[in-house]
Amino acid sequence: MSILIKNGRIITSSSDFIGDVYIQGEKIVAIGQNLPHKAEQVIDAKNKLVLPGGIDPHVHLDMPFMGTYSSDNYETGTRAALFGGTTMVIDFILQTQGKSLQHALDQWKGRSDGNAVGDYSFHMAVTDFNPDTRQEIKKMVEEEGITSFKTFMAYKGALMIDDRQMVALMEEVKRCGGMVTVHATNGDMIDYLIAKHRAEGKLSPLYHYLSQPEVTEAEASGRFADMANYTGVPGYIVHLTCEGALNAVRNATRRNQNVFVETCIQYLTLDASLYNKDFDGAKWVMSPPLRQKKDQETLWAGINQGLVQVVATDHCPFKWEQKLMGKDDFSKIPNGHPAIEHRFELLFSEGVNKGRISLHKFVEIIATNPAKLFGVFPSKGSISVGADADIVIFDPKQKHTISADTHHMNVDYSAYEGWKLTGKTKTVLLRGKVVIDNDTCLVDKGYGQFIKRNKVSGKI
Ligand code: URP
Ligand code: ZN
Ligand code: ZN
Repeated sequence: MSILIKNGRIITSSSDFIGDVYIQGEKIVAIGQNLPHKAEQVIDAKNKLVLPGGIDPHVHLDMPFMGTYSSDNYETGTRAALFGGTTMVIDFILQTQGKSLQHALDQWKGRSDGNAVGDYSFHMAVTDFNPDTRQEIKKMVEEEGITSFKTFMAYKGALMIDDRQMVALMEEVKRCGGMVTVHATNGDMIDYLIAKHRAEGKLSPLYHYLSQPEVTEAEASGRFADMANYTGVPGYIVHLTCEGALNAVRNATRRNQNVFVETCIQYLTLDASLYNKDFDGAKWVMSPPLRQKKDQETLWAGINQGLVQVVATDHCPFKWEQKLMGKDDFSKIPNGHPAIEHRFELLFSEGVNKGRISLHKFVEIIATNPAKLFGVFPSKGSISVGADADIVIFDPKQKHTISADTHHMNVDYSAYEGWKLTGKTKTVLLRGKVVIDNDTCLVDKGYGQFIKRNKVSGKI
């Protein structure tokens, strides 16, 4: 199959011009103006943006968590991602404490194999680093193409590892050519605050927020940066939310250390006032919690300062009946919110349209940087000759409204209900095939492929 996309405004992280893209099979074969190539399908992209497919490196699909499973599986989650313009996601495998990494990988493959509509990869979350786990790191990197290892400094008793395990893991991951990523909040302090609020009968969603103050994140982010600096491993902080934590990273740059930072679309667009809505606030119970307006300002500035390299979602949806598990106790509300479908359009509308970031920066943080950091560039994350034809044709002027009535995620409310956006994903190509065409998905589960990733360079 050959496709010619004509007369679109082609945007990469460094160029911006009106032109054509010619695709043969799964790959981009030519890019230029007035290309002479004949194709079986011609797509007119006049007045549209032609962008690389988005890469969301932080999603949780069909994940066992807090006594239930996240409500999007690999089919519904990756399809919703495609509708929004995200062609590849990176999901998290969670090791069960006391069991091997291979055991966890087998469980995740059991749920994902043959079920994805869009492309996907895995990070491996190491929750129990011991001499046996150490032996498995090299195999994950070299045979499975899983080159990033997630750690939790919180969720004490379930996922959290201590600093002794962290440093030892970092040394091994560095030796094997991988990256250590982190949920950086102080788990002991949060554990104490949760217990204290519960003992005082303070049980509403507001106390989820008050149990994770900014200092818990700032402290852990600085500690993680220090350990990464000591061991020399490339380090990446997931879902960073606030000024204190970003300043800890800023401080690390003063000793010329690279610490990569991801924030998520919700921390740029929503704030903690949503926790004042009694139990309705459960829709936004996630960890870390939403923060203040001043933190949003810090994060937008951090993107432009080059301190924040990636905007992800931490998509971890739960239906309302699942959120009700915590109706009498905030600590039992499953943590997470749905966003996989809306990251691309929200970031365009709130970021580019409102003048907060440039179009090039948009491409960088939505696609190119995650591809570089996680070892899939340049085949993903760029519009270039030889790359996978993962392309979004985007109408920058079309207005639309987010609603649970029209979204494609398997969740019965929207965290952004009624939000009016400007800019809409119209057509999506994944590996040279049109997969989304004007609100219709043209492929079934099984089209999405597991993408083995390369060793991590620690450079972008
Ligand atoms: O609330 C969240 N973030 N849920 C998913 C697990 C995690 O911490 O990323
Ligand atoms: Zn987390
Ligand atoms: Zn997460």
